Order: sequence, then structure tokens, then C-alpha cells
Amino acid sequence: MFSFLSILLFLILVPILIKIVPTFYLRYKRKVTNVREKYNCEYALVTGASTGVGFAVCDLLASQGIKVILVSRSEERLEIAKKKLLEKHPNGSFIVKPIDLGQDGSVVSETLEREFGDYNISMVFNNAGYNVPWRLEEVEWSKAQTMLNCNVVAYAAVSHWFLNKWKTQRKGNERAAVVFTSSGASYLPTGLYTELYSSAKSFVSMFAQSFGIRARKFGIDIIDIQTGPVKSEFLKRAGFESLKESMSSAQDPSIVAKMMLNGIGKFYSIDQHWSVCIMQLVSQYLGANALCLLSRFMPQDLHRKKDKQKEN
Ligand SMILES: NC(=O)c1ccc[n+]([C@@H]2O[C@H](COP(=O)([O-])OP(=O)(O)OC[C@H]3O[C@@H](n4cnc5c(N)ncnc54)[C@H](OP(=O)(O)O)[C@@H]3O)[C@@H](O)[C@H]2O)c1
Repeated sequence: MFSFLSILLFLILVPILIKIVPTFYLRYKRKVTNVREKYNCEYALVTGASTGVGFAVCDLLASQGIKVILVSRSEERLEIAKKKLLEKHPNGSFIVKPIDLGQDGSVVSETLEREFGDYNISMVFNNAGYNVPWRLEEVEWSKAQTMLNCNVVAYAAVSHWFLNKWKTQRKGNERAAVVFTSSGASYLPTGLYTELYSSAKSFVSMFAQSFGIRARKFGIDIIDIQTGPVKSEFLKRAGFESLKESMSSAQDPSIVAKMMLNGIGKFYSIDQHWSVCIMQLVSQYLGANALCLLSRFMPQDLHRKKDKQKEN
């Protein structure tokens, strides 16, 4: 008979294995999945394509011969990204489309209709996002609204537009895919100036997972990548420069891009980094009340103080 201890061990180990095995499999799988063949993909659209994770995704897609539509806010930065991509993929096809995703969702939908109605796009990467470095009571509401539009509303508006387009236009058993960049921050209520960002990412993950279940019926694969720390411009934009010193485990954006392509169509959600696996397990075992209580003892002003000192 199983002892109480072995049952307890089993109950602890099984969730850990379920979490960690896909993370390691997708990261260390030798050959990156050929999504061009899998989705018969002529065009892919990537938001937040000018730097970081989005840029790495464009690079990987281009290496498979997919034509890439690069979307982000600044045309100048997109052109720089395109130039870098063309140096690496001289025969690649890159289309630059500056769209401010911080606008109202209906404006984003209208722009998609106007700009991409005629393109045969079968993969979409909802990736653009950033953190706001202020507490809610300090930030001007218009800035918070723009941030929520970019980090939340745009993810839903872009998915809504493509779902409608694919429902009517895709034939037979053609498949399409939407990848969502979420964050490990969605698991932990830290209070570290992330109240808007963490809750935005919680929305992204829950939306992607719920949408993913239904979308399969229409031949659409959805994956939500709960990303860990990445070497990108993210911390600089968030005003957390000093956190860089403690980000020794930050990974190259190409790893995230590879895991996205390897995971799509196989999983609904991926804890992309070991630190995210730990965050998820801790949140699962402790529950919200214990986490909030623990977070009250975190040195919440530490990094912002350091950054303010540097500014002065
Ligand atoms: N880096 C991390 O440690 C980390 C961890 C977890 C999750 N993530 C998530 O990963 C995703 C990619 O971030 P990253 O690390 O690659 O950061 P990044 O290098 O700062 O890239 C952010 C991208 O988002 C675009 N963007 C920002 N605001 C926009 C707007 N209003 N409209 C259109 N595009 C906009 C930027 O375009 P412009 O250049 O035109 O501004 C840029 O291309 C984000 O969703 C982020 O939340 C990052």
C-alpha cells in the first residue's frame, strides 16, 4: 500500500513535472518546428517587431522563408529593424507598418482592415507590450489608458479581427495560429509598480487560453507564452534599469522565439523559463492571500529609488 508520504510526494512531483518537462522540451528541441509548412504560411504579422522578442521572431520566421509584416509604433525603429533583417536574410521579404497599438481597439481593427485585408496572413504574434514605471495613483490616466490599450485591448482586437477574417476566408483544413506574449508577472501580485502590467498579462494569458479552446474548432492554434526575464529594451522602457544587475538569468530573445514556434499547435500555454515555473507553482500552492501577505514584506521601493538616484 502507498504510504501517506509517497502519495504526498506524488501530488507534489506530478505538477512540477507537468510544468517543467514542456519548458525544457521546447527550449532544447534541436530542430525548430517548420511553421511555414505547418500553417502553409505565406505572411506572418508580428507586433512589437522593432526590438527584443518581436525582432527575434521576425528573424526566425524569415529563416523559414516566411514573408514578415513588422508592426510597432515607431517607423524609424521599424526601418532599422528591417535593415538588420535584410542584412541577415538578403532574399527575405519584410513589410514595415507603423501602428500605435495604444489607440482605441476599434481604430486598430479599422487599420488592420485597411492595411491587411488583402494579405494571406496565417500567423499572428501578439507581442507588443511594456510596463509603466509609476504607481497607479501617480500616473496620468491617459498614459495608463494607452498602456492598457497596447497591453490588453490590442491583443483582443487583433485576435478578433483575424478570427473573423479566417472564419470566412480559410478553406478546408487550412490552419492558422496566434501566439500571445504574456509574462511570469501574471502569476504574482508583487506590488512592485506592476499592478497594471501584471494584471494586463493575467488578462492576456486567460484570454489566450480561453480563446484557444474554442478557436481549435475553426482550425486556429493559440499559444500563450508566459515569458521569463529577457535581454531586451523592456527594463529601460519600464524605468527599471537597475534591475538589470539582478537579471543574470535573463535570456536571449531568440530562445523565446524558438519556444514559440516549437510550442504552437502542441500546447495551450507555456511557462517559458524555469523562474516562471517556480512562480506558477508558488502561486498554485500558496494561493492569493498568502502571496499578497508575503509581498507586503518585499522591498518595493528599492529599484525605483536606485533609478531615481541615477537620474539625479
Ligand atoms: N523583457 C522581459 O524581461 C519580458 C518578460 C516578460 C514578458 N515580456 C513581454 O515580452 C513582450 C516583448 O517585450 P520585449 O522584451 O521584446 O521588449 P522591448 O524590446 O521593449 O520591445 C517592445 C516592443 O513593443 C512595441 N511597442 C511598445 N508600445 C507600443 C505601441 N503603443 N504600439 C505598438 N508597438 C508598441 C515597441 O515598439 P517601438 O519600438 O515602436 O516603441 C517594441 O517593438 C512584451 O509584451 C513584454 O511585456 C518581456
